[in-house]
Amino acid sequence: MVVANFLVTPKCNIKCEFCLNVWKDERMEDAGQFFRGLDLFQSLRVIDRLSENGVEHLVLTGGEPLLHPHLAQLVEHAYGKGMAVIIQTNGVLISRQFLDRIAGKVTAIQVSLEGMEEEHNAITKSKNWKRVVENIHEVQKAKIRLMTNFTVVRKNIGCVEEYVRFLDAMGVDGANFTPLYPAGQAVANFSVLEPTDEEKLQFFRKLAILRKEVKMPLLVQAGIPHSFFEENLLDLPHARCGAMVSEFAVQPNGAVTMCPGSTKILGNIFQKSIDEMLGASKETHAVHNCEGCLLKEAVPLLLHSR
Ligand SMILES: C[S@@+](CC[C@H](N)C(=O)[O-])C[C@H]1O[C@@H](n2cnc3c(N)ncnc32)[C@H](O)[C@@H]1O
Ligand code: SF4
Repeated sequence: MVVANFLVTPKCNIKCEFCLNVWKDERMEDAGQFFRGLDLFQSLRVIDRLSENGVEHLVLTGGEPLLHPHLAQLVEHAYGKGMAVIIQTNGVLISRQFLDRIAGKVTAIQVSLEGMEEEHNAITKSKNWKRVVENIHEVQKAKIRLMTNFTVVRKNIGCVEEYVRFLDAMGVDGANFTPLYPAGQAVANFSVLEPTDEEKLQFFRKLAILRKEVKMPLLVQAGIPHSFFEENLLDLPHARCGAMVSEFAVQPNGAVTMCPGSTKILGNIFQKSIDEMLGASKETHAVHNCEGCLLKEAVPLLLHSR
C-alpha cells in the first residue's frame, strides 16, 4: 500500500510554532516552485498522475487544505478514481456545506487538536480551540469518520489525560499522537519544543495506561524508535516511518519529497514515475540517512518491496 500525502497548498490560516512545513525553509532547493497551488486544473492533474502510478490512498494535506477553493472537487475526483481519501486539517474552516458535499467520498478527516484549550491555543498561536471542537462535532454529525492528531511537545504533555478522556467522551473514532519532527519551523527551536527523554517516557506511560481505560483507539505515529517501546515495556500501537517505502509527499506542482518535512526533491511526477523515484531514494533510506532528517534511528531498515 502506497500512501501519497498531497500538499494541495502551502498556504495556512494559522502559524503553529512547530509546523513541519518547509516552504519558508531556506534549505529548500527551489522554494519558489512550491508556492503555486490552489489551481484546480493543476491539482486535478497531480491526482491523475498519482492514480496512473497506482496510488490508491491519498491524504489531502498542506498547508491548510481547506484553503484550496476546489478541495471538494479534488475529493470527488480522487474518489471517482477509486482512491481512499483522508483530509488532514486544522479544523478551523470546516463548514456544513463542505461536509455535506464530501460525505460518503472520504474515508476520514483528521483534525489537529493540540491539547485542551490553553495548550492548543498557545501552540497554534490562535484562539480557535472552541471552534475546532465545534467543527469536530459537525464532522461527527455528517457521519464522517473523525480522528484527531496531537503533536507531542513540552507545552501539551501535561494535559494528555484530560485530553484523552475529553475526546473519548466526544466519541471520536481515534486519537493520533505524533512525536515532534525536526522539520520546518521546528528546526530552529527543536530543543525548546521537544520534551526531555524522561518527560517523553512519562507521557507514553500515561498513554499506555489510558489506552486500556478508553473506548477509542490511540495510535503513536512514526518518529520514535521501536526499541523505545520494547525496552520500556510500553504496550502502545505505534507506526514506523514509511518515507519512500510506503508513503511519500507530493507538492502542488508535482514535486516529490520523501515526506512532508523533507527538503529534498526526488523528481516530479510529471517527468518520472513514482517507482523510479522510490528507487532513487533507496540508498538514502536504507542507510537511515534521510536528507535533512534527524530522526535517523526512527527510519526502518526496510528495502523497497516494489
Ligand atoms: C503539517 S499539518 C498540515 C495539515 C493541517 N494544516 C493540520 O494542521 O492538520 C499536518 C499535521 O502535522 C502535524 N505537525 C506539524 N508540525 C509538526 C512537526 N514538526 N512534527 C510532527 N508533526 C507536526 C500537525 O500537528 C498536523 O496534525
Ligand atoms: S501544522 Fe497545519 S495548521 Fe499548523 S501551521 Fe502547519 S500547516 Fe498550518
